[in-house]
Amino acid sequence: MEPAVLVHKKSTMSLQAARERVDELRRELERHAELYYVRDAPVISDEKYDALFRELEELETRFPELLTPDSPTRRVGGAPLDAFASVDHLAPMLSLDSHADPAQVERFDVRLRKAAGNTAVSYVVEPKLDGASVELVYEDGSLARAATRGDGRRGEDVTVNVKTIRSVPLSLRAGGEPVPPVLALRGEIIMRVEAFETLNERLMNEGKEPFANPRNAAAGALRQLDSRITAQRPLDIYVYDILFGFPPEIGTQWRVLEAIREWGLPVNDLSERVSILAEIEAYHQRIMESRDDIGYEIDGVVIKLDDLALREELGSTSHHPRWAFAFKFPPRKEITRVLEILPSVGRTGVVTPVAMLRPVELGGVTVSRATLHNREEVARKDIRKGDRVRVQRAGDVIPQVVERVHEPGRRRQPRFTMPEACPSCGTGLIERGPFSLCPNSFECPAQLVGRIFHFGSRAALDIEGLGDETAKLLVETGLVSHLPDLFDLEAGQLVELEGFAEISAGNLVTAIATASRVELERFLFALGIPEVGVAVARDLATHFRSFEVIRAADEEALQDVPGVGPRMAEQIVAFFREPHNASVLDELLRRVDLVLPAAVADNAPLADLKFVFTGALEAVSREEAKKLVETAGGRVTGSVSKATDYVVAGESAGSKRAKAEKLGVEILDERGFLELLANKGLSPD
Ligand code: IVH
Repeated sequence: MEPAVLVHKKSTMSLQAARERVDELRRELERHAELYYVRDAPVISDEKYDALFRELEELETRFPELLTPDSPTRRVGGAPLDAFASVDHLAPMLSLDSHADPAQVERFDVRLRKAAGNTAVSYVVEPKLDGASVELVYEDGSLARAATRGDGRRGEDVTVNVKTIRSVPLSLRAGGEPVPPVLALRGEIIMRVEAFETLNERLMNEGKEPFANPRNAAAGALRQLDSRITAQRPLDIYVYDILFGFPPEIGTQWRVLEAIREWGLPVNDLSERVSILAEIEAYHQRIMESRDDIGYEIDGVVIKLDDLALREELGSTSHHPRWAFAFKFPPRKEITRVLEILPSVGRTGVVTPVAMLRPVELGGVTVSRATLHNREEVARKDIRKGDRVRVQRAGDVIPQVVERVHEPGRRRQPRFTMPEACPSCGTGLIERGPFSLCPNSFECPAQLVGRIFHFGSRAALDIEGLGDETAKLLVETGLVSHLPDLFDLEAGQLVELEGFAEISAGNLVTAIATASRVELERFLFALGIPEVGVAVARDLATHFRSFEVIRAADEEALQDVPGVGPRMAEQIVAFFREPHNASVLDELLRRVDLVLPAAVADNAPLADLKFVFTGALEAVSREEAKKLVETAGGRVTGSVSKATDYVVAGESAGSKRAKAEKLGVEILDERGFLELLANKGLSPD
């Protein structure tokens, strides 16, 4: 039965009643998360789920004593860490013996059958996932720890990050296989290809470097010190093994998979049980053929002996178990020749060297271009026009040049050099680390379509009807040759365009006019400043409360905003200093009406007090604490200085606390902070 969404009145709810409701909500939320994320069979609507989630959040804010680390609300990530702790695995995480040669698989099968006394053996076969291996430790059924594989014996403690993955249950389901008191599981964290592509698109829109493949993206997200970033990366997991805490009555790998499923964890449903070599080969063939359709990256199939007792007898070498084998797919790499290297300007102004190739077939697709990423990559790999190169394609991802194939005695062309001017608009390129960037953000034709589209996107000015196609049309027909022209469009001009009628033309003009009254944070985001996403734009807006102040801020002032580091500050300053940008901004400002965040009254309880948070808070999240301070007129900054009034130091606070001590800035623990708020008549609800 579905629980009703109850609205409890604060004054009437006792702690006991809250505790019961909180327990019930957590159970329900976890059950629905499993139905949705693991079994792909939701039974309630997203809205209902959100309502239950919000109710839990509210109760936890009102009754902080009920907060527990395994609450579904704690999946959002916590305070950034300075470094990961290193942890010993409960059992070694070995790797696999692997080969793409069927003869090796045959040898493996013969060896295992011999060990079994020359009888038939049964195997579990499953896809070999190309992701990041993790250990999940459950204590009394609650997720206590998650660690990367590391060197196989010790890994990094990435618990906070793994908790953000919705398909990882925070507590195991009872009712199936009994839950051992301490249970360590092994699985693979992956990013689905679709999610990977969306992420890369977003990164590129924010002027950041995209990931080369889903594995790097998954491993990168898993090893983020700021778990709030991990929470925004759509990760997934498949669990395939028990590392520690084998229930004694389980005798086969197949039963292991069933038990893992019963505990509520995702098990790959392409896993099968087979018994003869021909079946293994057929499975390998079948999975290889569906490789491009299954939605995540795999690089082979894993064959595991089903009988656990026999496994025990066979044991392991120091690297890999003798009872498992990875039957890899042939690599999707080919050799071809570079016909030309051309610089190509992306939507965000990043200029990428692209190798134009003699067309070659890679896993069923003809490839004639491959990225060389950036200036330093070309130099490091020393790829030149005319070279023979090995190219590789991973899933649906952009092909890459892996390396040069040496051709002794062949005369080579001169080294490739990046042009000094933008190949699209002629503006001098600037260097940003290994990247070359065209700084003419708003007038460079190669960037304009993307800029217009981004400007009108939902989180920016939210201009209905200004999609990618329309942006392209506007630029191609010359109606918009720089961004501010958007505001001068007339319905009469638009009607002339393909796909426009009188009504849609009128609608677009009206939408643009309406959007010209815009909150500062949206406007900032809309500009597409490198590194400035929605969250940073919001923080800049609430911190400075004025566009002109942000525009004139130097790197030091910008770094006062939490979340703005030196690199980001440098990019922001460079963006505003660029003369082309400055004149476009002046024009834009004449056309928009900026809505500034509300000013704070002088008598606000925390008016003009500066806070710095460090370490992990327990009762309230960092976000909530920050909001509380800001709504009461205080400021939250990222670094401690003499001007700081309070440093709120949570669990395992590090260098900022030390700095506060040195400067004599008052340090509050979490309780002291909550007391200070209470004294000012503020509380976390
Ligand atoms: S079983 C002791 N099953 O491939 C055997 N591994 O070197 C444990 N991998 O690091 C591994 N998919 O992370 C197993 N279905 C699967 C897998 C898998 C991917 C990874 C694993 C390991 C690497 C092989």
